[in-house]
Amino acid sequence: MSEVRSSIAAIALACMSAMAFAQGSGDPLAVGRQMLAEDNPGDLWTQRGEKLFREKRGPKNASLENCDFGLGPGQLDGAFVRLPRYFADTDKVQDLESRLLTCMVNLQGFKREDLIRNAFSTLDRDSDVEALATYVASRSNGKKMDVRLDHPKEREMLKAGEYIFNRRNGPLDFSCLTCHGDENKRIRLQDLPNMTDPKQMQAVVAGWPAYRGTQSTVRTMQHRLYDCNWQMRLPDLGFTSDMSVALTTYLNYAGNGAVIGVPGVRR
Ligand code: HEC
Repeated sequence: MSEVRSSIAAIALACMSAMAFAQGSGDPLAVGRQMLAEDNPGDLWTQRGEKLFREKRGPKNASLENCDFGLGPGQLDGAFVRLPRYFADTDKVQDLESRLLTCMVNLQGFKREDLIRNAFSTLDRDSDVEALATYVASRSNGKKMDVRLDHPKEREMLKAGEYIFNRRNGPLDFSCLTCHGDENKRIRLQDLPNMTDPKQMQAVVAGWPAYRGTQSTVRTMQHRLYDCNWQMRLPDLGFTSDMSVALTTYLNYAGNGAVIGVPGVRR
């Protein structure tokens, strides 16, 4: 897979730079992204995720086919659009990735620490969690984000997420809003979505997990948040930590109505 990945990356980068020269003006990266979206390498992760989902794996030699993402065991269609949500068995509000970990531990017997240590792909190791999350989310393609906040703990998570999103902190005194609160902001060539605008927020949540051209792999929202957290020079964001789930609750709720198309394509 890693070799496939590096060749895809090389082709994608070549396309992007060729288009940049050909266009001469406008936003050449947008053209590159469009090309990637038409022939999305991320689809390979969806396929790998489906295979992993059905395979009997782990110390308990079980598949994930009985995993309950909120609509009942094995009910995947439309489950992702309701996440994060409260789960009675764990007494927690969980997002896609944290629910996946719960199933991989409970049904398959994997160790939580091992799963977290390998949750992000590296250059020479593909993450199972990233592929599985992509597959599960893709089973909501065409459906609208629909986070409901029926349970008090879900409303608490939203409040916490809103607070964290708006609060300036850390050595740079940034909040998420510092970079994501205005129109037409950029860092180098990257347009920064204005997350106070519901339409732009929908465009954001519609496409995660996403194939990231610069990283030649699919990443989930957990990784995106980890990355932005790092950009703020905050301590590493724990994978599936309450803080990460609170932020995702805030983002997905703000993006309600977004039509899911996973994997998206991002820089
Ligand atoms: C220092 C500036 C900066 C801060 C602060 C920041 N981000 Fe980001 N964010 C970025 C950049 C750069 C990107 C990538 C844009 C690109 O490559 O197109 C990004 C992308 C994102 C995306 C994906 C956008 C998309 O188009 O799909 C999300 C979601 C996100 N950030 C959430 C957050 C959250 C939540 C916080 C606060 C915890 C935060 N960011 C803080 C710079 C920042």
